[in-house]
Order: sequence, then C-alpha cells, then structure tokens
Amino acid sequence: MQFFEIPRLLTREQVAKARTALSQAEFVDGSATAASIGPRVKQNLQVRPQPEIVKTVLEVIQTALMSHEAFTGAVFPRKLHLNINRYEDGMHYGDHNDAAIVGHVATAVRTDISFTIFLADPAQYDGGEMVIRTPTGDVEVKLPAGDAIVYSGSTVHRVEPVTKGARLAVFGWAQSFVGDPTKREILAQLRRTRRAIIEDNPNAGYLSELGNAYNNLMRLWTEN
Ligand SMILES: [Fe+2]
Repeated sequence: MQFFEIPRLLTREQVAKARTALSQAEFVDGSATAASIGPRVKQNLQVRPQPEIVKTVLEVIQTALMSHEAFTGAVFPRKLHLNINRYEDGMHYGDHNDAAIVGHVATAVRTDISFTIFLADPAQYDGGEMVIRTPTGDVEVKLPAGDAIVYSGSTVHRVEPVTKGARLAVFGWAQSFVGDPTKREILAQLRRTRRAIIEDNPNAGYLSELGNAYNNLMRLWTEN
C-alpha cells in the first residue's frame, strides 16, 4: 500500500461541527514535537491537547475511521493516535519521515500507517498541498474537507507552505494488528475477494472454507 484516499469519511455536518468546535480551541507552536528534525523543517500549529472540545472532535473522527471498511479492511487498526494541526501565514512542514513511535508509554502507537483528514476545503486556503514521495515521483494531494488520505508510515512526505487562508486538518497514525506490510496487503486482498464473493454469490459452498482460511491466516499473522 503506497497510499489511498477515502472520500467523504466525514459528512459535511461533521466537518462543520468540528470546525466550529475547533474555533474555540487553542493552537500552539507545533515545532516542539518535531523530534530530531527541528523547527526549521516543521513550522505549523498544533492544538493544545486535552480540552473537552478537542477530545469530542477526535472521538467523532476516530469512530468514523474505525467504522469505515476502506480503512479497517486495509489497515487492520489496533490502536490510533490522533491530533489536529493548522497551517497559516507561510507555515509548512518540509520533507520528513514520521517518528516510529508516538504517544507516551501507556498509549504508545507504532506508526505503521499515517493519515490526514482535511477539515478545510481547498477553496479556503492556497498552497498547503500534502506531497507524498513515491518510487515513480512526488504525488500532490489536496482534498475536499471530510476526505482522508491514508499512506504508509514509512513514506517521506511534506506539506507545502500555506500562502493564503488556513489549512485545518486532523492527522494521525495507526498501529496495525499486522505489522508486516506484505502480510497486511495479502490479508486485505483476501478480505476484499471474500466480500465480493459474498456480494455476488452469497450461497457459494466454498465461502465457508474461504472464510475459514482468511480467519486462520489472520490468527497466524496478527500480533497483540
Ligand atoms: Fe508527517
């Protein structure tokens, strides 16, 4: 999995509610959490953690992710770590690779998969494209509010300077039940195939055996 988009992960109403709630939230310098790469590369604002408003917004988004087949069927999420950021006035985040572990001991998450959920529409800001480096070149991503981009945690990526308006987004990571990306991809293929067969031919006799093989492979390859 290089990356994929999830259109309309959030409804327009959920986006509007999140934006209204976050207009009351306090944002602080995001470079404090730039690990080893330093403030030269990372210039943005991150929401001050903890307050009830932030918790409520993140809970809605966590629920949306965990109940969306496009996400769960590709990521096999075990734990999530979410945060909110804002870029304005030339802020940007240069080429980087995310830290391998985020969060504190009790809630630490290995960053197998990274994601961004846009809370601002492209018309609300200039610049701010997310750029993902792939073996065939850079890919620019700037999606409607409510859409998500999901990409491998090992990918190098950046956020271009925001030259007008403000780019508000939720970003985060998932630790997968299946740490090995090759095994994860095979399980995702099997799961898609099984669901397609259930759709086309729900009474197929071989479905229970296929389901059995899928579940047994899952048990073999998942870690806790
Ligand atoms: Fe990042």
